[in-house]
Amino acid sequence: MRLIITRSGLESAQLAAEAIRTALVQKPDMTLGLATGSTPIPVYQALVDAYQQGRADFSRIHAVNLDEYVGLSPDHPQSYRRYMEENLFRPVGIRPEQVVIPRGDLEPEGELVRLNQFTAAHPIDLQLLSVGVNGHIGFNEPESVFYDKYHLVSLAQQTRISNARFFSSMEEVPTQAITMGVGDIMRAGKIVFLATGQEKLPAMQAILEPGPVTPACQGTVLKLHRDCDIYLDQELAGQITPAPEVEVIRVGAAKEVLL
Ligand code: GLP
Repeated sequence: MRLIITRSGLESAQLAAEAIRTALVQKPDMTLGLATGSTPIPVYQALVDAYQQGRADFSRIHAVNLDEYVGLSPDHPQSYRRYMEENLFRPVGIRPEQVVIPRGDLEPEGELVRLNQFTAAHPIDLQLLSVGVNGHIGFNEPESVFYDKYHLVSLAQQTRISNARFFSSMEEVPTQAITMGVGDIMRAGKIVFLATGQEKLPAMQAILEPGPVTPACQGTVLKLHRDCDIYLDQELAGQITPAPEVEVIRVGAAKEVLL
C-alpha cells in the first residue's frame, strides 16, 4: 500500500485522474472500475478536461461500477447510473454498450448473474475507490464476513443517514443496494483510492495504521492489496500514523526541501 500525501483534496483528485489516464494510455481497452459519491467528482472533472484536450480516449474501455441502489431506475436523479452519465459517460463519449452498472429497478437475482458473468470475463484493470464513514467500500457494509462477488446488501443506518443529503427525505433513501464484492475489488490489478474530510478519519486510520484486517471495517482489506495507492490531503494524513509497511510519498516534498 502506498500513501500519497497531497496538498489538497483537489490535488489528490488530479493525481488520481492522472493515474487513471496513464493506465488508459497503456491499455486503451482496459476494464475500468468506477465509484460514485462526492469524493470522485473532481477526478471525473479532471478526466473530462483530459478528454477535451485530446489526452484521453475512452472509446475502447469497459466501464464497470461498484454499486447501485435497489429500487431506483437508471434515470432516477439519485441513481448511480444517472450520476455516471452526467459526471463522466456523456462528457467523454462512453457509450451505453461499454457500461456495466447494476440495475436497481430489475429483479436482483438476475442482475447478480449478469454482473458476476461480466466480472468473471473481464477482470478489472484499475478500480477507483473511496470509503464510507463506517469504512464501507462500494456498499460492503460492516459485517462479520467479506463477500466475494456482486451481492445484495441492506444499507447500514449510518450509510442511509450519510447519503440522506442527496434525497428530499430520509424515507426516500433506499434500504438496499447491489454492490460488487470485496473479492472483486481485491482482484483489480490496481486500486486508486481517495478520501477527504474529517468524518473519514476513523476509517482511514483503520486502513493505514497498524491493526487487523476485519470485515467490521471492510476497507481494512486493502492492507492486503498488492497495488493500492491511497491519496490523502495533508490535513487528513497529518492525523494518521501509517503502519511501517505503508510506503509514504509526500507530493512536493523535494521542492519544499529545495526552497
Ligand atoms: C456511497 C458509495 C461509496 C462511497 C461513499 C462515500 O456510499 N456507495 O462507494 O465511497 O458513498 O461517499 P462520499 O464520497 O460522498 O463521501
